[in-house]
Amino acid sequence: MEVIIRPTVDAAAGLVAELVAAGIRENPRLVIGFATGRTMERVYALLVKEHRERRLSFAQVTTFNLDEYTGLPKGSPDLYRSYMQERFFGQTDIEPANTFLPDGNARDLDAECADYEERITRAGGIDLQLLGIGAVGHIGFNEPLSALRSRTRVKALSPQTIAQNAGAFGGDATKVPRRAITMGVGTILDSRRVLLLATGADKAEIIAKAVEGPVTSMISASALQLHPRCTVVVDEAAAARLTQQEYYRWIFENEPEWKAYQ
Ligand code: F6R
Repeated sequence: MEVIIRPTVDAAAGLVAELVAAGIRENPRLVIGFATGRTMERVYALLVKEHRERRLSFAQVTTFNLDEYTGLPKGSPDLYRSYMQERFFGQTDIEPANTFLPDGNARDLDAECADYEERITRAGGIDLQLLGIGAVGHIGFNEPLSALRSRTRVKALSPQTIAQNAGAFGGDATKVPRRAITMGVGTILDSRRVLLLATGADKAEIIAKAVEGPVTSMISASALQLHPRCTVVVDEAAAARLTQQEYYRWIFENEPEWKAYQ
């Protein structure tokens, strides 16, 4: 794992967008794992800008989102499918048939989860997985005690996650679905490269635990310490509780792979 600290929210999101764009330019058929949430909104806006102004094409890219709520009506604006459509799919040249999210309305949810895993395998696995981190340290909706080897499945949301996500439901926590389909921690760890983005002071404590604390199923993001190629990108506010900041800064300033991104 490596940690990159950028001065502002925009610089942190900008670096993630640049890394995604560079990945696509290198391999136009990249298989990307997408996340939703407030943190990622900036990244999608920057990728759309890159598409419009610098002709970055998503035409051959395949995407798999991490998660989707269960029980919301088809076409609901609160679905993660709608979030992606509004902020990214609908604004780029991506092929709709190559955009996958779990179907939270499938009649047989367990079969849908198994099928989602199979679709990822058939696509050749995920090359680049984008992640945010929740207040409880979840990645996707892998709530506390999610098995570190878990695969795509239905998960009950924790009270903290329901409270965190209430903002997207007009602040009304009772409207937040209680369950979601999510890729498992094991599914995420199988991706070839992981980029986790966390910004803002309210992420500082959980980032410190996930990055510098012990690997524990209580904080699923800590499992990323086991991943051979995981980069955690944070702004100064989210980095505030990390103890090894000096070392992380040295890496970004001196390691050749980061020269192009200074
Ligand atoms: C959403 C997802 C979640 C979010 C996390 C952070 O698809 O997988 O793990 O990335 O809850 O959400 P924000 O960015 O809203 O703080």
